[in-house]
Amino acid sequence: MPRLDPHSYNDSTQPETESLDWKARVDFRTHRLHAEVTLTLKEASAGPLDLDTRDLDIRAVVDAQGKPLPFHLAPPEPILGSRLRVELPAGLRQLTVRYRTSPQASALQWLTPSQTAGGQHPFLFSQCQAIHARSVIPLQDTPRIRIRYKAALTLPKALKAVMAAGFVHREEPSVEAVEHYEMPQPIPPYLLAFAVGSLAAKELGPRSRVWAEPELLESAASEFEDVDAMLRVAESLFGAYDWERFDLLTMPPSFPYGGMENPRLTFLTPTLLAGDKSLVNVVAHELAHSWTGNLVTNASAEHFWLNEGFTVFAERRILEALEGPEEAALHAALGRRSLETAIEHFRAHPHLTALRTHLTGIDPDDVFSQVPYEKGYLLLCAMEAMAGRPAFDKYLRKYIDTFRFKALTTEDWVAFTERELPGVLGKVNGESYLHQPGIPASAPSPRSRRLEELQRLMGTVPSQEAVKEWTPSEWQLFLEWLPSDTPRDTLRELDERFQFTKSTNSEVLVSWLVAALRAQYAPALERAEAFLGEVGRMKYLKPLYSTLHSSKEYRSKARAIFQRYAERYHPIARQGIEGILARA
Ligand code: BES
Ligand code: ZN
Repeated sequence: MPRLDPHSYNDSTQPETESLDWKARVDFRTHRLHAEVTLTLKEASAGPLDLDTRDLDIRAVVDAQGKPLPFHLAPPEPILGSRLRVELPAGLRQLTVRYRTSPQASALQWLTPSQTAGGQHPFLFSQCQAIHARSVIPLQDTPRIRIRYKAALTLPKALKAVMAAGFVHREEPSVEAVEHYEMPQPIPPYLLAFAVGSLAAKELGPRSRVWAEPELLESAASEFEDVDAMLRVAESLFGAYDWERFDLLTMPPSFPYGGMENPRLTFLTPTLLAGDKSLVNVVAHELAHSWTGNLVTNASAEHFWLNEGFTVFAERRILEALEGPEEAALHAALGRRSLETAIEHFRAHPHLTALRTHLTGIDPDDVFSQVPYEKGYLLLCAMEAMAGRPAFDKYLRKYIDTFRFKALTTEDWVAFTERELPGVLGKVNGESYLHQPGIPASAPSPRSRRLEELQRLMGTVPSQEAVKEWTPSEWQLFLEWLPSDTPRDTLRELDERFQFTKSTNSEVLVSWLVAALRAQYAPALERAEAFLGEVGRMKYLKPLYSTLHSSKEYRSKARAIFQRYAERYHPIARQGIEGILARA
């Protein structure tokens, strides 16, 4: 029984699901979805069908006539969950599973009104990547299989449901409303997504609107108002946009990621609302996934770099087109810095710093890092430099065309690349990126005038004059490059001159707080404490908790802060921080 994805019970000799019809009633009182799903298979075949589930309470499995089908739910395995085996009689193509989700479903976060901006209504959202869809729907939870779906969500009338799919209609048959959605393009299961809450929308362009709680709508609309221009630039680089709409959803602050590329409806952290559009590279990143990730998909978490490395490369191409090569180079330098930090963190597990990973028995959430993003980016930059931009652009287009609506492995990618750009992988020493740990010595580094200027000022307290044209990316890089033994007095001087502790740019603020906490600069502790109670984005929680935890003086403080706020964090974030606080 060949299992091609180490994170799924899917047996590739069994029939694949073609489409889902999902009905779920959202119960904010019990934190459960009462649901049923009808799976239509690509072909009829008798014998066992294995589905992935996690913490689902399976009530019944029936055929199209409502006749019960025999099934067995295996005991749960810590990473994969429980295999649901259904015995299919000959000729069957459709089966329905009736079930309910657990209040602890790993893909769902149920927020109380006090965890939202408005404070009046509860909120629910899903986050399925990498292997959490199975805690919401029993299905073949591997990105090798693509499915179309229809969904009907029943919810309290005062609320609105949004889905990463096409809106069909809303009915209000009772005290509850039913919202119908349909996804005609086939997607890997990790891209199933929805949210329910008090939500309002504002149009941004012919193909885009932004959703947010009403209290945040105006600021979200102005932060993201240029999204249509971004969409057009992306199309000029990577080809026609295949998903019809590119809407944005501003999430509550506990959303654990910066962004999630749910098709037609990208989910974004509210920490992007800096007021000056300085963090829209995250929107560019999620938009770029519409080609690299959502159209061309990694075959499993072992090939995650194909999603993220290509997307970072595409993100910086969009940024270069919109804001120029200087800004793109600053982002590349920030990326390089985060790669170095990530590799340092993995020093005890260097094999996890190769792009192609081997993850049998390993939870993808536990090994999430910047490595697939930034080392993947470096490999593609090296190839672009070797092949020349025109040839590399042609190759990119052909890659997207060849694998659109398909999944591929690193090995498939190597074969394709050898065919289309013969010799290039060898010349850039592709092997050292794909299969060896660390950063290859020959990896390209960004060069630019502004980077050189920044390098000259590294570790100093610059004059107001020297920094008067700096963008937030320059500030962040300046802070990231501060030597780790910068004395507390220098940090105080920097803060007095530039007011970092009061920064409203979350990237700048977190880089500052990490540097300042290392030197035990007291005002930073108070600010970090407040910030950790406001924001649940893992990219910020992890370095802040890690820095606090590695200082003898602050270690108990880190535990106390976590105890106070753990309830507010997303389960995935909570698990990540518990790991940090358990370190010796
Ligand atoms: N798809 C990822 C987020 C993700 C990865 C969720 C793995 C779950 C498992 C998304 O596209 C992403 O990379 N977000 C980044 C944005 C950044 C690289 C601009 C983030 O959240 O910080
Ligand atoms: Zn991404």
